[in-house]
Amino acid sequence: MKNISLTIDDKKISCSDGKTLLWAALENGIYIPNLCAILGKTHPAASCRLCFVEVEGEKEPVVACTEPVKEGMVVHTRGKNALRLARTSAELILASHPVDCGHCQKNRSCELQKIANHLGIKLITKRFRKLERNLPIDESSSLFTYNPNKCVLCGKCVWVCQEKLGIGAIGLPEGVLSDRFHLPGQTFWRNNLQRMRRMC
Ligand code: SF4
Ligand code: FES
Repeated sequence: MKNISLTIDDKKISCSDGKTLLWAALENGIYIPNLCAILGKTHPAASCRLCFVEVEGEKEPVVACTEPVKEGMVVHTRGKNALRLARTSAELILASHPVDCGHCQKNRSCELQKIANHLGIKLITKRFRKLERNLPIDESSSLFTYNPNKCVLCGKCVWVCQEKLGIGAIGLPEGVLSDRFHLPGQTFWRNNLQRMRRMC
């Protein structure tokens, strides 16, 4: 595949044709907030709506995870309109997220913290009414716990389970792992669970 050149935030980069803007940026050290993007997934879900960027010549911001790179493209990741949309998406996600960082094992390695910091918003936001979900925590698996209250429904663990491990034991919207599925043995899970955890 041929290489093309484009400019993101005044930085000239080169990448292979066929990539999307998000991966071109991330691979060149330019951060764009994202939660649902999965490298290698042919049809991105584009569901988190965090990766808005502005492309010169386009009237509206575009989502970087579905926008293909083009020769000579000029992109701004911190344009006013793109940031406004991304902030709204982030605040909507946070409105239904039980923020309790001090007692959370993701504290300091958390994607939500990174996104909020990058967008300049608070984790506890007053813009939208707080939605307390209070859903039951699923501890039916001896290998991991599924807390639907904390889950941001990015779909990454589901994708790894289906596409990489070839199991398809969990899915959205339920997102619950259950022994009612014909799961491989515990050893298989122990060996492969790390891949699912790494995505979370
Ligand atoms: S997932 Fe992140 S934002 Fe949420 S409580 Fe844990 S550390 Fe805080
Ligand atoms: S990463 Fe683009 S919409 Fe989620």
